[in-house]
Amino acid sequence: MSDRNATEDRPPPGGKRGPSRRAFLTHSLAAGAGLAGAAALPALVAAPPIAPTEAPPPETVKSTLLVNGQARTLDLDVRTSLLDALRDRIGLTGPKKGCNQGACGACTVLVDGQRALSCLTFAAMYEGRAVTTIEGLANGDQLHPVQRAFVEQDGFQCGFCTPGQIVSAVGLLTEQPNVSDADIAELMSGNLCRCAAYPGIHAAVRDARGQA
Ligand code: FES
Ligand code: FES
Repeated sequence: MSDRNATEDRPPPGGKRGPSRRAFLTHSLAAGAGLAGAAALPALVAAPPIAPTEAPPPETVKSTLLVNGQARTLDLDVRTSLLDALRDRIGLTGPKKGCNQGACGACTVLVDGQRALSCLTFAAMYEGRAVTTIEGLANGDQLHPVQRAFVEQDGFQCGFCTPGQIVSAVGLLTEQPNVSDADIAELMSGNLCRCAAYPGIHAAVRDARGQA
């Protein structure tokens, strides 16, 4: 035996012997064999992909609306707004889609004579209710008095907001036939006009008082 081996087998000072270098190497080799064995295990089987949840088919309901005096029965996706039903299903494009979020008033219609923002309400809610759009105001060739007042007072420029302004004015004058000058601006403030034709719009509403 060499001097080196003799040194390894000699007990340490104090007499307590730790694991010998030989024992350490033996354990290390055994651990390495274990890892090699683990590498030889069959690969884990991948979990099958989770199928995406399919959206349920849209729920539809049959609704009959009384639009400008005519009964219109529609199969409606319950999510259809009154504005989309009027424009895309019935073909009445007078109500305009300005903001589609209740901020501009371009989509104003009357429901049972009261002003409503058609972009904010579901059409299916109006079963059996009377809906009036700008197309329903004139009597044949005869303009509604509020329409005539808008023409006479130049209550528009580009005209985009005009159907909503006129329908809103009809609703206001039905609620308050003698609305004061001071209240007109306030009570028409839900209808925006990008052309700022407000002086003409307000003059038209003043002129039409008592005629809606
Ligand atoms: S489109 Fe309805 S409020 Fe603007
Ligand atoms: S007339 Fe142009 S937005 Fe009112």
